[in-house]
Amino acid sequence: MTVHSLSPEILDALEGAVGRNGLTVEPAGMAKYLGDWAGDYRGGALAVLRPGSVAEVQALVRLCSGLGLGVIPQGGNTGLVSGAIDTKGAGRVVISLERLNTIRRIDPENFTLQADAGCVLQTIKDASEAQDCLFPLALGAQGSCQIGGNAATNAGGVNVLRYGMARDLILGLEVVLADGELWNGFSGLRKNNSGYDLKQLFIGSEGTLGIITGVEVKLFPKPARTETAYLGLASFEAAIQLFHRARRDCSDLISAFEIIGSECIELARTIDPGMTAPVAAPVQALVELSSGPAIDLNGVLAGFLADAMEEGLVTDAVLATSGARANTFWAIREGLVEGQAKRGYHVRTDLSVRISDIPALIERARRFVALEHPGWIPLAYGHAGDGNIHFNVLPPLDLGTAEARARGAEITAGLYDIAVDLGGSISAEHGIGRSRAREFWAGLSPAHRRMITALKDALDPKGLMNPGCLLPSMETFP
Ligand code: FAD
Ligand code: LAC
Ligand code: ZN
Repeated sequence: MTVHSLSPEILDALEGAVGRNGLTVEPAGMAKYLGDWAGDYRGGALAVLRPGSVAEVQALVRLCSGLGLGVIPQGGNTGLVSGAIDTKGAGRVVISLERLNTIRRIDPENFTLQADAGCVLQTIKDASEAQDCLFPLALGAQGSCQIGGNAATNAGGVNVLRYGMARDLILGLEVVLADGELWNGFSGLRKNNSGYDLKQLFIGSEGTLGIITGVEVKLFPKPARTETAYLGLASFEAAIQLFHRARRDCSDLISAFEIIGSECIELARTIDPGMTAPVAAPVQALVELSSGPAIDLNGVLAGFLADAMEEGLVTDAVLATSGARANTFWAIREGLVEGQAKRGYHVRTDLSVRISDIPALIERARRFVALEHPGWIPLAYGHAGDGNIHFNVLPPLDLGTAEARARGAEITAGLYDIAVDLGGSISAEHGIGRSRAREFWAGLSPAHRRMITALKDALDPKGLMNPGCLLPSMETFP
Protein backbone atom coordinates (compact mmCIF):
# COMPACT_ATOMS: atom_id res chain seq x y z
CA MET A 1 0.00 0.00 0.00
CA THR A 2 1.37 3.43 -0.92
CA VAL A 3 1.10 6.09 1.76
CA HIS A 4 0.58 9.57 0.28
CA SER A 5 1.03 11.69 3.37
CA LEU A 6 1.80 11.29 7.03
CA SER A 7 -0.93 11.86 9.62
CA PRO A 8 -0.37 14.51 12.31
CA GLU A 9 0.01 11.70 14.88
CA ILE A 10 2.78 10.04 12.86
CA LEU A 11 4.51 13.37 12.28
CA ASP A 12 4.37 14.02 16.04
CA ALA A 13 5.89 10.61 16.73
CA LEU A 14 8.68 11.16 14.20
CA GLU A 15 9.39 14.62 15.62
CA GLY A 16 9.43 13.10 19.10
CA ALA A 17 12.12 10.65 17.95
CA VAL A 18 14.34 13.06 16.04
CA GLY A 19 13.56 16.55 17.37
CA ARG A 20 12.13 19.50 15.45
CA ASN A 21 15.41 20.22 13.62
CA GLY A 22 15.68 16.65 12.44
CA LEU A 23 12.36 16.52 10.59
CA THR A 24 11.68 18.19 7.23
CA VAL A 25 8.48 17.85 5.25
CA GLU A 26 8.39 21.07 3.20
CA PRO A 27 9.25 20.47 -0.49
CA ALA A 28 11.89 23.24 -0.53
CA GLY A 29 13.69 21.81 2.51
CA MET A 30 13.56 18.27 1.14
CA ALA A 31 14.66 19.16 -2.42
CA LYS A 32 18.40 18.58 -1.99
CA TYR A 33 17.79 15.08 -0.62
CA LEU A 34 15.53 14.11 -3.51
CA GLY A 35 17.73 14.80 -6.52
CA ASP A 36 21.06 13.24 -7.46
CA TRP A 37 24.38 14.92 -8.10
CA ALA A 38 24.22 14.70 -11.90
CA GLY A 39 20.56 15.74 -12.20
CA ASP A 40 19.68 12.34 -13.71
CA TYR A 41 17.15 11.29 -11.08
CA ARG A 42 14.44 12.99 -9.02
CA GLY A 43 12.48 11.26 -6.35
CA GLY A 44 9.95 11.83 -3.64
CA ALA A 45 9.64 11.30 0.11
CA LEU A 46 7.04 11.82 2.80
CA ALA A 47 9.70 13.32 5.07
CA VAL A 48 13.44 13.72 5.40
CA LEU A 49 14.69 12.69 8.84
CA ARG A 50 18.11 13.71 10.11
CA PRO A 51 18.92 11.90 13.35
CA GLY A 52 21.64 13.37 15.54
CA SER A 53 22.58 10.19 17.41
CA VAL A 54 22.62 6.43 16.99
CA ALA A 55 19.79 6.18 19.53
CA GLU A 56 17.70 8.49 17.33
CA VAL A 57 18.37 6.28 14.28
CA GLN A 58 17.17 3.30 16.33
CA ALA A 59 14.05 5.12 17.50
CA LEU A 60 13.20 6.15 13.92
CA VAL A 61 13.73 2.68 12.50
CA ARG A 62 11.59 1.16 15.27
CA LEU A 63 8.82 3.63 14.52
CA CYS A 64 8.98 2.99 10.77
CA SER A 65 9.01 -0.75 11.34
CA GLY A 66 5.89 -0.49 13.53
CA LEU A 67 4.14 1.68 10.93
CA GLY A 68 5.23 -0.41 7.94
CA LEU A 69 6.91 2.67 6.48
CA GLY A 70 9.76 2.19 4.00
CA VAL A 71 13.11 3.83 4.78
CA ILE A 72 15.66 5.17 2.28
CA PRO A 73 19.06 5.52 4.01
CA GLN A 74 21.08 8.39 2.59
CA GLY A 75 24.71 9.44 2.97
CA GLY A 76 26.26 12.22 0.90
CA ASN A 77 23.86 11.51 -1.98
CA THR A 78 26.71 11.22 -4.49
CA GLY A 79 25.77 7.71 -5.65
CA LEU A 80 25.41 7.30 -9.40
CA VAL A 81 22.73 4.56 -9.60
CA SER A 82 19.78 6.09 -7.74
CA GLY A 83 20.26 4.01 -4.61
CA ALA A 84 19.42 6.86 -2.23
CA ILE A 85 16.69 8.41 -4.38
CA ASP A 86 13.20 6.89 -4.37
CA THR A 87 12.44 7.54 -8.03
CA LYS A 88 8.89 6.20 -7.73
CA GLY A 89 8.27 8.51 -4.76
CA ALA A 90 6.17 5.71 -3.35
CA GLY A 91 5.59 6.93 0.19
CA ARG A 92 8.85 6.43 2.08
CA VAL A 93 10.98 8.51 4.38
CA VAL A 94 14.62 9.41 3.78
CA ILE A 95 16.93 8.96 6.77
CA SER A 96 20.01 11.12 6.19
CA LEU A 97 23.11 10.36 8.25
CA GLU A 98 24.60 13.83 7.76
CA ARG A 99 24.32 14.88 11.42
CA LEU A 100 26.15 11.76 12.61
CA ASN A 101 29.54 13.12 11.63
CA THR A 102 32.07 12.71 14.44
CA ILE A 103 35.38 10.89 14.21
CA ARG A 104 35.15 8.67 17.27
CA ARG A 105 38.81 7.72 17.64
CA ILE A 106 42.07 7.40 15.76
CA ASP A 107 44.61 4.83 16.89
CA PRO A 108 47.82 5.43 14.89
CA GLU A 109 49.64 2.68 16.77
CA ASN A 110 47.18 0.10 15.53
CA PHE A 111 46.51 1.96 12.28
CA THR A 112 42.75 2.11 12.84
CA LEU A 113 40.09 4.83 12.83
CA GLN A 114 36.49 4.67 14.02
CA ALA A 115 33.92 7.20 12.81
CA ASP A 116 30.21 7.92 12.64
CA ALA A 117 28.76 6.80 9.31
CA GLY A 118 27.95 10.38 8.30
CA CYS A 119 31.58 11.55 8.39
CA VAL A 120 32.59 12.93 5.01
CA LEU A 121 35.36 10.86 3.42
CA GLN A 122 37.65 13.88 3.02
CA THR A 123 37.37 14.60 6.77
CA ILE A 124 38.53 11.05 7.50
CA LYS A 125 41.40 11.37 5.04
CA ASP A 126 42.48 14.70 6.58
CA ALA A 127 42.26 13.38 10.15
CA SER A 128 44.36 10.35 9.17
CA GLU A 129 46.96 12.54 7.49
CA ALA A 130 47.24 14.68 10.62
CA GLN A 131 48.44 11.48 12.37
CA ASP A 132 50.92 10.72 9.57
CA CYS A 133 48.62 7.99 8.32
CA LEU A 134 46.80 7.36 5.06
CA PHE A 135 43.20 6.32 4.53
CA PRO A 136 43.54 5.34 0.89
CA LEU A 137 39.94 5.37 -0.39
CA ALA A 138 40.06 8.12 -3.04
CA LEU A 139 37.29 9.22 -5.40
CA GLY A 140 36.12 12.36 -7.14
CA ALA A 141 33.20 12.72 -4.70
CA GLN A 142 35.37 12.49 -1.58
CA GLY A 143 34.48 16.04 -0.50
CA SER A 144 30.79 15.07 -0.13
CA CYS A 145 30.36 11.28 0.10
CA GLN A 146 30.22 9.74 3.57
CA ILE A 147 32.10 6.78 4.96
CA GLY A 148 28.76 5.04 5.66
CA GLY A 149 27.80 5.51 1.99
CA ASN A 150 31.24 4.24 0.95
CA ALA A 151 30.67 1.11 3.03
CA ALA A 152 27.09 0.68 1.79
CA THR A 153 28.23 0.89 -1.86
CA ASN A 154 31.62 -0.85 -1.43
CA ALA A 155 33.16 2.17 -3.15
CA GLY A 156 36.25 1.84 -5.36
CA GLY A 157 38.10 4.83 -6.79
CA VAL A 158 41.61 5.45 -8.04
CA ASN A 159 43.74 3.57 -5.50
CA VAL A 160 41.97 0.19 -5.53
CA LEU A 161 44.88 -1.27 -7.45
CA ARG A 162 47.11 -0.94 -4.39
CA TYR A 163 44.74 -0.91 -1.40
CA GLY A 164 41.52 -2.63 -2.52
CA MET A 165 37.91 -1.46 -2.40
CA ALA A 166 36.00 -0.25 0.68
CA ARG A 167 35.39 -3.92 1.54
CA ASP A 168 39.14 -4.46 1.94
CA LEU A 169 39.55 -1.37 4.10
CA ILE A 170 36.79 -1.93 6.65
CA LEU A 171 37.55 -3.72 9.91
CA GLY A 172 34.16 -3.34 11.57
CA LEU A 173 30.69 -1.84 11.31
CA GLU A 174 27.97 -0.70 13.66
CA VAL A 175 24.51 -1.21 12.16
CA VAL A 176 20.93 -0.42 13.14
CA LEU A 177 19.03 -3.50 11.99
CA ALA A 178 15.62 -3.36 10.30
CA ASP A 179 13.77 -3.80 13.62
CA GLY A 180 15.79 -1.04 15.32
CA GLU A 181 18.18 -3.28 17.28
CA LEU A 182 21.82 -2.12 17.29
CA TRP A 183 24.56 -4.55 16.17
CA ASN A 184 28.04 -3.58 17.32
CA GLY A 185 30.40 -5.25 14.89
CA PHE A 186 33.57 -3.42 15.96
CA SER A 187 36.57 -5.42 17.11
CA GLY A 188 39.66 -3.51 16.03
CA LEU A 189 41.06 -6.87 14.94
CA ARG A 190 42.72 -7.52 11.62
CA LYS A 191 42.33 -11.28 11.94
CA ASN A 192 39.13 -12.73 13.30
CA ASN A 193 38.01 -16.03 11.87
CA SER A 194 35.20 -16.72 14.28
CA GLY A 195 32.28 -17.66 12.12
CA TYR A 196 30.48 -15.77 9.37
CA ASP A 197 31.97 -12.34 8.66
CA LEU A 198 28.65 -10.49 9.03
CA LYS A 199 30.01 -7.03 8.25
CA GLN A 200 30.64 -8.19 4.69
CA LEU A 201 26.89 -8.66 4.24
CA PHE A 202 26.26 -4.99 4.90
CA ILE A 203 29.21 -3.78 2.80
CA GLY A 204 27.79 -3.26 -0.68
CA SER A 205 24.20 -3.90 0.48
CA GLU A 206 23.19 -0.34 -0.55
CA GLY A 207 20.95 0.27 2.46
CA THR A 208 18.78 -2.80 1.85
CA LEU A 209 19.67 -4.70 5.04
CA GLY A 210 20.14 -2.05 7.73
CA ILE A 211 21.47 1.44 8.43
CA ILE A 212 25.20 1.68 9.03
CA THR A 213 25.84 4.12 11.88
CA GLY A 214 29.55 3.58 12.51
CA VAL A 215 32.56 2.37 10.51
CA GLU A 216 35.99 1.20 11.65
CA VAL A 217 38.68 1.36 8.96
CA LYS A 218 42.29 0.32 8.41
CA LEU A 219 44.89 3.03 8.06
CA PHE A 220 48.28 2.80 6.34
CA PRO A 221 51.55 4.66 6.76
CA LYS A 222 51.39 7.93 4.86
CA PRO A 223 53.69 7.55 1.83
CA ALA A 224 56.80 9.71 2.16
CA ARG A 225 57.29 9.75 -1.60
CA THR A 226 54.93 9.99 -4.51
CA GLU A 227 55.81 10.13 -8.20
CA THR A 228 53.23 10.90 -10.85
CA ALA A 229 53.57 10.63 -14.63
CA TYR A 230 51.22 11.62 -17.44
CA LEU A 231 51.88 9.44 -20.46
CA GLY A 232 50.93 9.37 -24.13
CA LEU A 233 50.29 6.06 -25.88
CA ALA A 234 49.28 4.99 -29.36
CA SER A 235 46.42 2.67 -28.39
CA PHE A 236 44.52 0.96 -25.57
CA GLU A 237 46.47 -2.24 -26.42
CA ALA A 238 49.69 -0.36 -25.69
CA ALA A 239 48.18 0.93 -22.43
CA ILE A 240 47.44 -2.59 -21.22
CA GLN A 241 50.88 -3.85 -22.25
CA LEU A 242 52.33 -0.92 -20.34
CA PHE A 243 50.27 -1.81 -17.30
CA HIS A 244 51.60 -5.38 -17.34
CA ARG A 245 55.12 -4.06 -17.61
CA ALA A 246 54.52 -1.56 -14.77
CA ARG A 247 53.14 -4.33 -12.57
CA ARG A 248 56.31 -6.38 -13.11
CA ASP A 249 58.82 -3.51 -12.93
CA CYS A 250 57.27 -1.47 -10.12
CA SER A 251 55.38 -4.23 -8.32
CA ASP A 252 53.26 -2.97 -5.43
CA LEU A 253 54.71 0.53 -5.61
CA ILE A 254 52.02 1.41 -8.19
CA SER A 255 49.13 3.15 -6.46
CA ALA A 256 47.14 4.27 -9.53
CA PHE A 257 46.99 3.42 -13.21
CA GLU A 258 44.21 5.35 -14.93
CA ILE A 259 43.59 5.57 -18.67
CA ILE A 260 41.85 8.30 -20.62
CA GLY A 261 40.80 8.29 -24.28
CA SER A 262 41.88 11.66 -25.75
CA GLU A 263 38.24 12.37 -26.78
CA CYS A 264 37.52 12.91 -23.06
CA ILE A 265 39.92 15.83 -22.75
CA GLU A 266 37.67 18.30 -24.59
CA LEU A 267 35.14 17.74 -21.85
CA ALA A 268 37.60 18.46 -19.09
CA ARG A 269 38.17 21.79 -20.84
CA THR A 270 34.51 22.73 -20.43
CA ILE A 271 35.20 22.85 -16.68
CA ASP A 272 38.47 24.71 -16.98
CA PRO A 273 39.06 26.19 -20.46
CA GLY A 274 42.70 26.85 -19.53
CA MET A 275 43.36 23.18 -18.88
CA THR A 276 45.49 21.35 -21.41
CA ALA A 277 46.60 17.75 -21.34
CA PRO A 278 50.38 17.47 -20.97
CA VAL A 279 50.48 15.13 -24.02
CA ALA A 280 48.41 14.91 -27.19
CA ALA A 281 48.37 11.14 -27.81
CA PRO A 282 45.17 9.18 -28.63
CA VAL A 283 45.35 7.34 -25.31
CA GLN A 284 46.68 8.91 -22.12
CA ALA A 285 47.64 7.29 -18.84
CA LEU A 286 48.04 8.70 -15.37
CA VAL A 287 50.43 6.57 -13.36
CA GLU A 288 51.25 7.07 -9.70
CA LEU A 289 53.85 5.31 -7.56
CA SER A 290 54.17 5.84 -3.83
CA SER A 291 56.44 4.48 -1.12
CA GLY A 292 58.24 5.03 2.15
CA PRO A 293 61.41 7.17 2.33
CA ALA A 294 63.99 4.43 1.78
CA ILE A 295 63.09 3.77 -1.84
CA ASP A 296 64.46 5.71 -4.80
CA LEU A 297 60.99 6.07 -6.26
CA ASN A 298 62.02 8.59 -8.90
CA GLY A 299 64.70 6.16 -10.06
CA VAL A 300 62.19 3.28 -10.24
CA LEU A 301 59.75 5.36 -12.32
CA ALA A 302 62.44 6.80 -14.60
CA GLY A 303 63.94 3.35 -15.23
CA PHE A 304 60.56 1.79 -15.98
CA LEU A 305 59.61 4.63 -18.35
CA ALA A 306 62.95 4.59 -20.16
CA ASP A 307 62.49 0.88 -20.93
CA ALA A 308 58.85 1.37 -21.93
CA MET A 309 59.81 4.20 -24.32
CA GLU A 310 62.61 2.16 -25.83
CA GLU A 311 60.12 -0.64 -26.50
CA GLY A 312 57.77 1.87 -28.14
CA LEU A 313 54.98 1.37 -25.59
CA VAL A 314 55.01 5.02 -24.52
CA THR A 315 55.24 7.86 -27.03
CA ASP A 316 55.34 10.85 -24.62
CA ALA A 317 55.98 11.16 -20.92
CA VAL A 318 55.70 14.11 -18.55
CA LEU A 319 56.80 13.61 -14.94
CA ALA A 320 55.33 15.84 -12.24
CA THR A 321 58.15 17.77 -10.63
CA SER A 322 56.02 18.90 -7.68
CA GLY A 323 52.86 17.95 -5.83
CA ALA A 324 51.13 20.96 -7.38
CA ARG A 325 51.97 19.72 -10.89
CA ALA A 326 50.69 16.24 -10.00
CA ASN A 327 47.44 17.86 -8.84
CA THR A 328 46.99 19.42 -12.28
CA PHE A 329 47.24 15.93 -13.80
CA TRP A 330 44.58 14.64 -11.40
CA ALA A 331 42.37 17.69 -12.11
CA ILE A 332 42.17 16.50 -15.73
CA ARG A 333 40.99 13.07 -14.60
CA GLU A 334 38.43 14.52 -12.18
CA GLY A 335 37.25 17.17 -14.65
CA LEU A 336 36.08 14.44 -17.03
CA VAL A 337 33.22 13.42 -14.75
CA GLU A 338 32.08 16.98 -14.11
CA GLY A 339 32.37 17.85 -17.80
CA GLN A 340 30.10 14.96 -18.76
CA ALA A 341 27.53 15.94 -16.14
CA LYS A 342 27.53 19.49 -17.54
CA ARG A 343 26.49 18.11 -20.91
CA GLY A 344 23.25 16.89 -19.24
CA TYR A 345 21.79 13.43 -19.69
CA HIS A 346 24.22 10.86 -21.05
CA VAL A 347 24.78 7.12 -20.92
CA ARG A 348 26.98 6.34 -17.95
CA THR A 349 28.44 2.87 -17.41
CA ASP A 350 30.80 1.21 -14.98
CA LEU A 351 31.92 -1.95 -16.75
CA SER A 352 34.58 -4.40 -15.69
CA VAL A 353 36.33 -7.13 -17.63
CA ARG A 354 39.59 -9.00 -17.23
CA ILE A 355 42.38 -6.43 -17.57
CA SER A 356 43.61 -8.06 -20.79
CA ASP A 357 40.10 -7.70 -22.30
CA ILE A 358 39.98 -3.90 -21.91
CA PRO A 359 41.07 -3.18 -25.52
CA ALA A 360 38.44 -5.62 -26.86
CA LEU A 361 35.75 -4.05 -24.66
CA ILE A 362 36.51 -0.55 -25.87
CA GLU A 363 36.88 -1.57 -29.49
CA ARG A 364 33.58 -3.49 -29.53
CA ALA A 365 31.75 -0.75 -27.65
CA ARG A 366 33.00 1.96 -30.01
CA ARG A 367 32.05 -0.12 -33.06
CA PHE A 368 28.57 -0.75 -31.64
CA VAL A 369 27.96 2.98 -31.06
CA ALA A 370 29.34 4.01 -34.46
CA LEU A 371 27.26 1.45 -36.39
CA GLU A 372 24.01 1.45 -34.45
CA HIS A 373 23.87 4.93 -32.92
CA PRO A 374 25.73 7.26 -35.26
CA GLY A 375 26.08 10.82 -33.96
CA TRP A 376 26.44 9.71 -30.33
CA ILE A 377 29.87 10.42 -28.85
CA PRO A 378 31.64 7.57 -27.02
CA LEU A 379 34.08 8.34 -24.21
CA ALA A 380 36.30 5.70 -22.65
CA TYR A 381 38.28 6.19 -19.47
CA GLY A 382 38.75 4.50 -16.13
CA HIS A 383 40.62 2.42 -13.68
CA ALA A 384 42.57 0.25 -16.12
CA GLY A 385 44.60 -1.40 -13.38
CA ASP A 386 41.31 -2.84 -12.03
CA GLY A 387 39.83 -3.82 -15.42
CA ASN A 388 37.18 -1.11 -14.82
CA ILE A 389 36.17 1.17 -17.71
CA HIS A 390 33.58 3.94 -17.62
CA PHE A 391 32.38 3.76 -21.21
CA ASN A 392 30.04 6.74 -21.41
CA VAL A 393 28.15 8.01 -24.45
CA LEU A 394 26.98 11.58 -25.01
CA PRO A 395 23.87 12.26 -27.09
CA PRO A 396 24.08 14.51 -30.16
CA LEU A 397 23.57 18.13 -29.04
CA ASP A 398 20.35 18.59 -31.01
CA LEU A 399 18.55 15.57 -29.52
CA GLY A 400 15.74 16.31 -27.03
CA THR A 401 16.15 14.85 -23.54
CA ALA A 402 13.17 12.47 -23.74
CA GLU A 403 14.40 10.96 -27.00
CA ALA A 404 17.97 10.85 -25.70
CA ARG A 405 16.86 8.93 -22.61
CA ALA A 406 14.89 6.40 -24.66
CA ARG A 407 17.81 5.85 -27.04
CA GLY A 408 20.21 5.88 -24.09
CA ALA A 409 18.43 2.88 -22.57
CA GLU A 410 19.03 0.94 -25.80
CA ILE A 411 22.69 1.96 -25.85
CA THR A 412 23.12 0.95 -22.20
CA ALA A 413 21.60 -2.47 -22.91
CA GLY A 414 23.95 -2.96 -25.88
CA LEU A 415 27.00 -2.02 -23.80
CA TYR A 416 25.95 -4.37 -20.97
CA ASP A 417 25.63 -7.20 -23.53
CA ILE A 418 29.17 -6.56 -24.74
CA ALA A 419 30.59 -6.59 -21.19
CA VAL A 420 28.68 -9.75 -20.22
CA ASP A 421 29.71 -11.46 -23.46
CA LEU A 422 33.33 -10.83 -22.45
CA GLY A 423 32.64 -12.43 -19.05
CA GLY A 424 32.51 -9.02 -17.36
CA SER A 425 30.29 -7.14 -14.90
CA ILE A 426 27.73 -4.37 -15.49
CA SER A 427 28.71 -2.74 -12.21
CA ALA A 428 32.35 -2.66 -11.20
CA GLU A 429 32.13 -0.11 -8.37
CA HIS A 430 28.98 2.06 -8.46
CA GLY A 431 26.54 -0.63 -7.33
CA ILE A 432 23.08 -1.61 -8.56
CA GLY A 433 20.72 0.92 -6.96
CA ARG A 434 17.48 1.37 -8.84
CA SER A 435 18.95 2.11 -12.25
CA ARG A 436 20.58 -1.31 -12.73
CA ALA A 437 18.23 -3.50 -10.65
CA ARG A 438 16.42 -5.06 -13.58
CA GLU A 439 19.57 -6.06 -15.48
CA PHE A 440 21.28 -7.24 -12.30
CA TRP A 441 18.42 -9.54 -11.35
CA ALA A 442 18.01 -10.86 -14.89
CA GLY A 443 21.65 -11.94 -14.95
CA LEU A 444 21.56 -14.05 -11.76
CA SER A 445 21.28 -17.83 -11.57
CA PRO A 446 18.32 -19.33 -9.62
CA ALA A 447 20.67 -20.34 -6.78
CA HIS A 448 22.11 -16.81 -6.56
CA ARG A 449 18.61 -15.28 -6.46
CA ARG A 450 17.50 -17.74 -3.78
CA MET A 451 20.44 -16.87 -1.50
CA ILE A 452 19.92 -13.12 -1.92
CA THR A 453 16.20 -13.44 -1.21
CA ALA A 454 16.87 -15.60 1.87
CA LEU A 455 19.32 -13.02 3.27
CA LYS A 456 16.92 -10.16 2.63
CA ASP A 457 14.01 -12.05 4.23
CA ALA A 458 16.12 -12.95 7.26
CA LEU A 459 17.44 -9.43 7.93
CA ASP A 460 14.54 -7.30 6.68
CA PRO A 461 11.44 -9.53 6.83
CA LYS A 462 9.03 -6.62 6.29
CA GLY A 463 10.95 -5.38 3.23
CA LEU A 464 11.18 -1.82 4.56
CA MET A 465 14.90 -1.15 4.07
CA ASN A 466 15.40 0.78 0.82
CA PRO A 467 12.53 -0.82 -1.10
CA GLY A 468 13.03 -0.85 -4.87
CA CYS A 469 16.84 -0.73 -4.58
CA LEU A 470 18.99 -3.67 -5.69
CA LEU A 471 16.28 -6.35 -5.19
CA PRO A 472 13.17 -6.78 -7.30
CA SER A 473 9.92 -5.26 -6.11
CA MET A 474 6.64 -4.47 -7.80
CA GLU A 475 7.97 -1.02 -8.57
CA THR A 476 11.23 -2.26 -10.11
CA PHE A 477 9.42 -4.81 -12.29
CA PRO A 478 5.87 -3.45 -12.62
P1 FAD B 1 24.68 7.89 -1.11
O1 FAD B 1 24.74 8.32 -2.52
O2 FAD B 1 23.95 8.77 -0.18
O3 FAD B 1 24.02 6.43 -1.03
C1 FAD B 1 24.47 5.39 -1.84
C2 FAD B 1 23.79 4.07 -1.42
O4 FAD B 1 24.21 3.71 -0.11
C3 FAD B 1 22.27 4.17 -1.35
O5 FAD B 1 21.73 2.94 -1.71
C4 FAD B 1 21.98 4.47 0.12
O6 FAD B 1 20.71 4.01 0.52
C5 FAD B 1 23.10 3.69 0.81
N1 FAD B 1 23.59 4.32 2.05
C6 FAD B 1 24.21 5.51 2.19
N2 FAD B 1 24.58 5.70 3.47
C7 FAD B 1 24.16 4.59 4.15
C8 FAD B 1 24.25 4.18 5.50
N3 FAD B 1 24.83 4.93 6.43
N4 FAD B 1 23.71 2.98 5.85
C9 FAD B 1 23.12 2.19 4.92
N5 FAD B 1 23.01 2.54 3.63
C10 FAD B 1 23.53 3.71 3.25
N6 FAD B 1 32.19 5.62 -6.81
C11 FAD B 1 33.23 4.75 -6.87
O7 FAD B 1 33.09 3.61 -6.42
N7 FAD B 1 34.43 5.12 -7.44
C12 FAD B 1 34.64 6.35 -7.94
O8 FAD B 1 35.71 6.64 -8.46
C13 FAD B 1 33.57 7.29 -7.86
N8 FAD B 1 33.75 8.55 -8.31
C14 FAD B 1 32.72 9.43 -8.23
C15 FAD B 1 32.92 10.73 -8.70
C16 FAD B 1 31.89 11.66 -8.64
C17 FAD B 1 32.12 13.05 -9.12
C18 FAD B 1 30.62 11.26 -8.12
C19 FAD B 1 29.49 12.24 -8.01
C20 FAD B 1 30.42 9.98 -7.64
C21 FAD B 1 31.46 9.05 -7.71
N9 FAD B 1 31.30 7.74 -7.23
C22 FAD B 1 32.33 6.86 -7.29
C23 FAD B 1 30.01 7.29 -6.68
C24 FAD B 1 29.77 7.63 -5.18
O9 FAD B 1 30.54 8.69 -4.78
C25 FAD B 1 30.04 6.45 -4.27
O10 FAD B 1 29.13 5.42 -4.59
C26 FAD B 1 29.96 6.76 -2.78
O11 FAD B 1 30.45 5.64 -2.06
C27 FAD B 1 28.52 7.04 -2.30
O12 FAD B 1 28.57 7.57 -0.98
P2 FAD B 1 27.42 8.54 -0.45
O13 FAD B 1 27.69 8.81 0.99
O14 FAD B 1 27.24 9.70 -1.31
O15 FAD B 1 26.14 7.56 -0.56
C1 LAC C 1 35.17 7.88 -11.87
C2 LAC C 1 33.80 7.65 -11.28
C3 LAC C 1 32.71 8.12 -12.12
O1 LAC C 1 35.97 6.97 -11.90
O2 LAC C 1 33.64 6.33 -10.87
O3 LAC C 1 35.43 9.00 -12.31
ZN1 ZN D 1 35.30 5.11 -11.34
